Amino acid sequence: MTDLARKLCAEKTLTEDEFARLIEEKDEETARFLADYASSVRDRVYGREIYVRGLIEFSNYCKNNCLYCGIRAGNANAERYRLTKDEILDRCREGDRLGFRTFVLQGGEDVHFTPDALADIVYSIKSEFPSSAVTLSVGEHPKETYALWRDAGADRYLLRHETADSEHYGRLHPPSMSLENRIRCLYDLKSLGYQVGCGIMVGSPYQTPHTIAKDLVFMKQFEPDMVGIGPFVPHHDTPFAHHPHGSLNLTLYLLSIVRIMLPHVLLPATTALGTIHPEGRELGVLAGANVCMPNLSPSDVKKKYSLYDGKLSSGSESAECLSELDERMKKIGFAVSFARGDVKK
Ligand code: 5AD
Repeated sequence: MTDLARKLCAEKTLTEDEFARLIEEKDEETARFLADYASSVRDRVYGREIYVRGLIEFSNYCKNNCLYCGIRAGNANAERYRLTKDEILDRCREGDRLGFRTFVLQGGEDVHFTPDALADIVYSIKSEFPSSAVTLSVGEHPKETYALWRDAGADRYLLRHETADSEHYGRLHPPSMSLENRIRCLYDLKSLGYQVGCGIMVGSPYQTPHTIAKDLVFMKQFEPDMVGIGPFVPHHDTPFAHHPHGSLNLTLYLLSIVRIMLPHVLLPATTALGTIHPEGRELGVLAGANVCMPNLSPSDVKKKYSLYDGKLSSGSESAECLSELDERMKKIGFAVSFARGDVKK
């Protein structure tokens, strides 16, 4: 096993070149060592409880044209939908009844939802469910807009940076988007007091051990409260339709590295991980994850929120089947927790 793995555990960080080597020199023994260490770190900070979040995908309209994403503006085959405020609140009521204490509102960058309209929705959710957290995941906006939503009661914000290498960023996104603005958004969100999540897809086209090393250095420096890491999965109606999906084992390896580097981070075992392997989420937890985000969207829209092919939305991916998720977690020695699940600092 590489000395770098031991060094990471001792110092909680590596240089960019060392991270790149740790990835290049990955072998089974190192992966097992890091997963075991990451698991012990997670147990120490969060115990063996898996926080659950109810994911409400409220609009698949998007003005952006990210090359990897199935709901990109240029995909004329996407069947577009948006939920009304009442429909969103209904999903929160159902989520509350099932025991969820975090609602994640995710959508494309849909100009139909003005800053005021979304603030009103956040305010209404927080008024009806004051003990629940609201997480937004709606892309890039001016700081004033983030401030408006924060004032309306939003607690957390998810915005994956996707890659910390600007050239790589340029190959995944249209020229209208930039890594610089993405990072600006993340720092704005942090300065407003949100719990903030960044993250990447593993195996996105043109990714290399060196771009991943940059991601890890960025994460260490930014100190996010949450990190979303899932495999890239191709969508048939995108320019990346014929690129292969990301590796399960590399995704697990990176989950372990991030847990060791940022012991307090909230780290989901993502839907994409569950999509490329039937026990993907369990493996994610065993590698150091501590969050699951079952889908709370209305059943008729779940299929339409198609970021990538084969995306799971039923069984234990569905909020209605929490008991299946709980059983799966129990089998590996964990239990679903209904706590609000804020970051422990
Ligand atoms: N494969 C995996 N993840 C994807 N996302 C978007 N498209 C894909 C895909 N094809 C992820 C992005 C985005 C998050 C909401 O979903 O990382 O930030």
